[in-house]
Amino acid sequence: MAQRCAAVAQRARPKPAGLQGRANSERRSIAAAAPLKRVAAGPKRNNINGNKNEMQLLTNIGCIWQQAQELPALRRGAELAKLPYLRDAYMLLDGDRIVEFGPMSDCPATAGYTVYDTQGRDIFPSFCDSHSHLVFAAPRQEEFVYRIQGLSYHEIAAKGGGILNSAKRLQAMPEEQLLAEAKKRLLALLRLGTGALEIKSGYGLTYEAELKMLRVIKALKAWAPIPIKATFLGAHALPPEYKENRAAYMDLLIEQLLPKIAEEGLADYIDVFCEKGFFSLEEAQRIMEAGKAYGLPAKIHCNQFNSMGAIEAAIAAGARSVDHLEVLNAEEMKALGQADTLACLLPTAPFFLNDEHRTPARKLIESGAAVVLASDYNPGTTPSGRMAFVCSLACIQLRMLPEEAINAASLHGAYAMDLEQELGCIRPGAKANFFLTEALPSLAYLPYSFGSDLIEAVFLNGKLHWEKQALD
Ligand code: NIG
Ligand code: FE
Repeated sequence: MAQRCAAVAQRARPKPAGLQGRANSERRSIAAAAPLKRVAAGPKRNNINGNKNEMQLLTNIGCIWQQAQELPALRRGAELAKLPYLRDAYMLLDGDRIVEFGPMSDCPATAGYTVYDTQGRDIFPSFCDSHSHLVFAAPRQEEFVYRIQGLSYHEIAAKGGGILNSAKRLQAMPEEQLLAEAKKRLLALLRLGTGALEIKSGYGLTYEAELKMLRVIKALKAWAPIPIKATFLGAHALPPEYKENRAAYMDLLIEQLLPKIAEEGLADYIDVFCEKGFFSLEEAQRIMEAGKAYGLPAKIHCNQFNSMGAIEAAIAAGARSVDHLEVLNAEEMKALGQADTLACLLPTAPFFLNDEHRTPARKLIESGAAVVLASDYNPGTTPSGRMAFVCSLACIQLRMLPEEAINAASLHGAYAMDLEQELGCIRPGAKANFFLTEALPSLAYLPYSFGSDLIEAVFLNGKLHWEKQALD
């Protein structure tokens, strides 16, 4: 209700000064489309249980993309290019759930519902972003410049930059401030269509700071209007004071932090950065096994720059996902093709690093691997959580088809966070987290329009969370 009042108030405001002097045609080109039309439809109707929940009817939907009547299985191989859709549709919501949808010709009478005439807009299920480092103290734009000057990721790390730089800043920042910063970022992500998010620790790297990060994530879970999953990534980088004593840091993670994290219920998954200069295969195996003992499945960083055997080890440990995978050999792809462990690709990271390694996504899909796309939002290698751009890059650089990219970023993202029962597709009974775009000429128009703001409204838990405002 508040949202709707706000929308009306916003429309009544005078035009922003900068636009006053422009020609009409110019103004139209930067103005958003008309707001969703709300139709007054008489007294409120009770839902099927007689509850006074507000039922909402969306009409004249151009196309519902990624729709299903039953929960779809993971889409592997050629299946990944299948994205079921329904054109010219309606959709009915009850409370925070999708009740039903169908062709406009079957649309129920509108009386008693709150009706949104979507005027031909398209609907997508929210993006399910299964890999992020959203909680951090400060951006790292200095390293961006170092890279322009030619320094490599490892050189920057060796100069005290990279993850260790983020850890120093996070250790010094009070918990409330960290939380406030993360909330701002999260709110921005909601407008970009993200409707479920995984967040990692790993910029603490001390007993206190790792717990601080995880408590911030716990507070975000309680506050955010979307599901959030927490991952313990204490094994993100070796703090310099443990340089001569790696075993002591491993003990800190496994003997001290893990029991405390389990006791306070601070994590859903465990992670380790298995990479040269970070954590070895043996250390990664120990971390995964220790996590398992505490009921935390693994979602690990591996094969970003080197192939070290982590994929086979993760599959053997029953990991939920292996993430990055810029460097992959044939055996690893074959193994992923037969595994339940998901293959999560993060194309914005090598793009931002201007790294030459690109996941051989076509071969990976052909192998039958269950491919996920996620943002890797973090201050060092991807200072953006814009999932629509992740999809664009997956198409442009990894040669994934638009249908494949949307499947990987929605349905498979939900699977990668064990949220598939709730999210990932438009389905009766699913949580009503979805976004509306301007009327698209075709699905390809979404990834094709890279960097554009095609999202015009966001529904979370069945409520209009945000709507783009028209400028004139
Ligand atoms: O996923 N690869 C390791 N971790 C992050 C980067 C973290 C950082 O540079 O701060 C990643 O890309
Ligand atoms: Fe990451």
